Amino acid sequence: MIRRATCGLGLVVALHLAGTAAAEPAIRFTAPRSDYLLGCGGCHGYDGVSNSSRVPTLKGLVGYYLNSGEGRAYLARLPNVAFSNLNDEELAAVLNYMVFDLGAGSAPPDAKRYEPAEVGMWRKRPLTEVRLSAFRRQLVDTLIDRYHAPAALRDYGGGPY
Ligand code: HEC
Repeated sequence: MIRRATCGLGLVVALHLAGTAAAEPAIRFTAPRSDYLLGCGGCHGYDGVSNSSRVPTLKGLVGYYLNSGEGRAYLARLPNVAFSNLNDEELAAVLNYMVFDLGAGSAPPDAKRYEPAEVGMWRKRPLTEVRLSAFRRQLVDTLIDRYHAPAALRDYGGGPY
């Protein structure tokens, strides 16, 4: 019954669109969400849940990094972030989307949004001279010890779903 109703509606929409030169896209994303999907989502998952043991999950976790200045800088200094082809303003918006939407509930309550100038400063110092996994481990240990981050932050992705 429901299926038949949906098909009927689909047909009406299809007939309607047939007479339209440029159809409006059915779903619109905000610019940061769309920039995330194009530039980051392929690795990190469209909703921030990674399915690779080499790529960290961002959903519900990434905000913990904002507890420390070093962690805050880390998010903007990661090579895949710093070398993005987005400008500082667009990249700051993606980081804010990542931290406050995908990472909802994980950032400290008083966390400030990233400003373009701040992102511009950090991305000029990309983390290309460190072993990222070791650098990350040390940051994560501090977040767990001092800021009550969950032990799940130690994991990357690719867990059972
Ligand atoms: C080619 C795959 C790839 C792309 C594209 C990518 N990342 Fe990553 N990202 C990784 C990997 C792998 C890591 C783990 C550290 C490393 O080796 O860089 C990582 C680490 C991170 C982390 C650290 C999370 C943590 O818990 O340590 C953040 C935040 C992040 N990426 C955000 C982004 C954003 C934002 C974008 C888009 C602008 C992006 N990434 C694009 C693969 C990617």
